[in-house]
Amino acid sequence: MDHSEDADRDAREASSEAADGERGTFYATTPIFYVNAEPHLGHAYTTTLVDVVTRHHRQRGDDTYFLTGTDEHGEKIAKAAAKAGMSPQAYVDDVSGRFRATWDRLGIRYDEFIRTTEEHHKKVVREVLQHVYDAGDIFYGEYSGLYCVGAERFVTEKELVDGKCPDSDDPPEYRTEANYFFRMEKYRPWLREYIETHPDLIRPERYRNEVLAMLREPIGDLSISRPRARVPWGIPLPWDQDHVTYVWFDALINYYSALAAKGTVERYWPHVEHFIAKDIVKPHGLFWPIMLKAAGIPLYPHLNVHGYWLVNERKMSKSIGNVVRPLDLQEKYGNDAFRYFLMRDMTFGLDASFSEQGIAERINSDLANDLGNLLNRTLGMLTRYRDGFVPAAGPLEPIDEALRDAFTALPATFARQFDELHFDHAIESVMEAVRKANKYISDTAPWQLAKEATAEPDGPAAERLDTVLNSCIEALRCAAVLLDPIIPGKAQELREQLGIGQAPNGIDGAAQWGQVPAGTRTRPGDPLFPRIDLKALEDELAEPEVAPLEHKPEITIDDFAKLELRVVQVEKAEKHPKADKLLVLTVRMGSETRTVVSGIRAHYTPEQLVGKKLILVTNLKPVTLRGIRSEGMILAAEDADGKLSLATLDRDLDDGSEVR
Ligand code: MSP
Repeated sequence: MDHSEDADRDAREASSEAADGERGTFYATTPIFYVNAEPHLGHAYTTTLVDVVTRHHRQRGDDTYFLTGTDEHGEKIAKAAAKAGMSPQAYVDDVSGRFRATWDRLGIRYDEFIRTTEEHHKKVVREVLQHVYDAGDIFYGEYSGLYCVGAERFVTEKELVDGKCPDSDDPPEYRTEANYFFRMEKYRPWLREYIETHPDLIRPERYRNEVLAMLREPIGDLSISRPRARVPWGIPLPWDQDHVTYVWFDALINYYSALAAKGTVERYWPHVEHFIAKDIVKPHGLFWPIMLKAAGIPLYPHLNVHGYWLVNERKMSKSIGNVVRPLDLQEKYGNDAFRYFLMRDMTFGLDASFSEQGIAERINSDLANDLGNLLNRTLGMLTRYRDGFVPAAGPLEPIDEALRDAFTALPATFARQFDELHFDHAIESVMEAVRKANKYISDTAPWQLAKEATAEPDGPAAERLDTVLNSCIEALRCAAVLLDPIIPGKAQELREQLGIGQAPNGIDGAAQWGQVPAGTRTRPGDPLFPRIDLKALEDELAEPEVAPLEHKPEITIDDFAKLELRVVQVEKAEKHPKADKLLVLTVRMGSETRTVVSGIRAHYTPEQLVGKKLILVTNLKPVTLRGIRSEGMILAAEDADGKLSLATLDRDLDDGSEVR
């Protein structure tokens, strides 16, 4: 905790080295997720993103570390455990396990899954607290204000949106508490200047501006403890066991404690890249840098902030019922297609719209059409013309060179776009090259060359054909290397179909042409990404159509007044002896009783009816139904499927009462 400014500078230099394409170190983190909800699309996005980025850095040969985990302390979690009827520990074990299982199923290759209830983490939290306390940056005081349980913090009047907390959408409550406070305000001028002189500390720029705007006004001191009597589920302060640590103070330290426990602080901390969404910019852009400064730990080089996935243009929420479950999508579309969609369809920093149609369209256009097609055409021709073996290339002509250059330039562009957080552009550059390769096939017309080569086996066409086929194989190989972090399963399948399943997969290899040895035997297999039937999907997802209602001609109140409707009580109900659809009811209204024949036998048993109060049209002209005279009609509703429900009263009234 006594890193110097020099270490800080080294960190920044090291991180920019990586961008220059040299071997570097890369340490990336996701937020640690609260265990009060199941993993959803949003959690899956950040985790997949960090998985993709760390896989890419491993391909660059960087010393890479990927940390994710769960945030398990605090009032919110204790409440969720109580609601589930479980002890906090049993509850957090359960939900944390579910996060972990979800990441395993989604093929997330984290290096460490940290839990804030782990002893080694708690130890580091206590050490950091003690350090800050000893340095005089923590004091005891009383505070009153609006407190949001959902966001676990005091909120200001100004922050509220329609009277609700901007983070959690819950209404805050007024609280007064005696707590320990962290002297955050004192560091405001320092942080402001630091961000101003380190333009890419928080990126993209819109979020940097957001934090700078917060820093233009007093930020106050941060309440960093909660009375243990009220919130027992937390880490007790080392100097006062009657208080537990505020959950954000506890949680943020995970990024550091994970390394401290393993003795890898020096190795990885200077290179830490935090990935979060815009909801938690304030704790990460304000609290965290000041905590680090006060603790004598150098700042992170970058805080990378992405937008939100919206579902039907709205934030996902349990109450709207639009929460998307990642495993459902993985099962339906496959892991790689789902990952591809997530990475291709969000522009980092901005919100993006989620829809299943969006996934399906991406699969069809990019994965089945562009990439899948290139593979099928290439392997098909190779089988037809060269028995499935990769031929050696002859001398390259300008058209071959143009294709080669398009691909060999890609790794540098791709890595730069990754470093600049333009993941969608990076993927698009690869797909653009793939489309060029498809066009190259049409332009070079290998089928034509094959025809000429058959006619004249030693002529120039045979060699041209070899070169063209070889170039297509190389193009596919390069694409497979670059797309590997995004579609790891399918990229490997692709390489296996090319016959190079075991070959090195580093990004350098993609910058060199001619890596597939001549004579390699290809192994065509199933299509990598089967096309999705969009029409069938549309039908599946369509809201069931509600038929328009057919209306009767209008009537006047006088017409209506001609009807006499009364409450009746069923005294007796029997099956009609001669008709299996009819029941014969004896009903009472005041001093009168009547016999009514009703066609409800398929829907009600006689026993269900006795004692019920129903509504009778009393002045309908009597009719005789199969020999029994019916003196009125019972009212019932019927739905489109022919299901019946008798009209009854929603509170008890005397029989004979009139319905108007
Ligand atoms: N526990 C805190 C974080 C502590 S980090 C020291 C927390 N947890 S959370 O479970 O609420 O996760 C918030 C994060 O989930 C977001 O920052 C983002 O990574 C992810 N997402 C949640 N909803 C999201 C979307 N709708 N879209 C994209 N990602 C979002 O906050």
